[in-house]
Amino acid sequence: MRILAIETSCDETAAAIVEVENYLPKIITHAVASQIEIHSATGGVIPNLAARLHVENLPVILKKATENNRERFDAVAVTTGPGLIGALLMGVTAAKAIASTKNIPFYSINHLEGHIYSAWLAPKNSKKFAPPQLPALIVIVSGGHTELVLMHRHGYFETLGSTRDDAAGEAFDKVARLLDLPYPGGPEISKLAQHGDRHAYKLPISFNDDYSLEFSFSGIKAHVANIINKLPKPIPAHVKADIAASFEHTVAETISLKTVNALEQFPGIKSVCLVGGVAANTYLRSFLEQKINQSRPQVAFITAPLEYCTDNAAMVGASAIFRHLFGHADDWRSVEVDPNKAI
Ligand code: KG4
Ligand code: ZN
Repeated sequence: MRILAIETSCDETAAAIVEVENYLPKIITHAVASQIEIHSATGGVIPNLAARLHVENLPVILKKATENNRERFDAVAVTTGPGLIGALLMGVTAAKAIASTKNIPFYSINHLEGHIYSAWLAPKNSKKFAPPQLPALIVIVSGGHTELVLMHRHGYFETLGSTRDDAAGEAFDKVARLLDLPYPGGPEISKLAQHGDRHAYKLPISFNDDYSLEFSFSGIKAHVANIINKLPKPIPAHVKADIAASFEHTVAETISLKTVNALEQFPGIKSVCLVGGVAANTYLRSFLEQKINQSRPQVAFITAPLEYCTDNAAMVGASAIFRHLFGHADDWRSVEVDPNKAI
């Protein structure tokens, strides 16, 4: 089974061909056109512009992903939500057109389900990849979502906690803007933080107790804004680095605290998977791994390979592979686009 996968939920136009090998997804081709440079001029994603850019990029990316493998796929998968409505419509229209004209199976994939299955993608050149064991705790940290998801079986997801306001990635982007750094803020904060003191500023952790699995990141952003407002301008580079380092540390501490809380409450969990755009953050990856090793050394810690943390189509193809193995295809005629689709 070879699946052509398409992802256009936000500002990346992506296509991939993924096949199944030993009950795991194997990436055959993978292409992404990022709109980051264009959106960074305005400091964030402009939904209408994102949709128009998908119109431009999608045929090019589809050609790239299917070159040399043209006609050699047996099904098509696409992200149908959550995401920006105009952006989603582009990918879904293309996927439905392909499924109907070729008369092949169609898979409607939830964007968060896609991020979850990025943990089942083996890193490049890895000889001994051990996929997550179920039940797994999935820590989704992206630009639009922050959620702890308990995955009992393939295709069965239970949300244990989520953010009440901003997502972790959104907080990175907003704090970056306060520090005059370009969009997307995550990688910029991360670079700056390397030169700063992690404990220079004490920042708040919301729902800071041993039980809560809920997140909130608007308080920390407001706190950083207050600090910045009170500082004499221009702010010296070393002070900005201290703010970035303290912020990154507090976000990593918050996510780790909630993850460890969930592990305490669900002792049967065998693996923790860190996925989503913010999972590309190296400080968070190592901080969380260390906290899990300290509290539950028997639990395996798996992160999505770096290149598949931010939006891509390989993760959509991986989800469809598991649907093919353990579930069923969807009828493209009745599948709708849902910008607020829950996992
Ligand atoms: O998963 P993603 O590509 O899109 C959504 O589904 O939202 O995540 C994008 C988010 C952005 O907020 C971006 O700032 C953040 O991921 N991000 C990072 C890093 N790389 C991307 N945040 C922290 N550190 C990074 N290295
Ligand atoms: Zn995403």
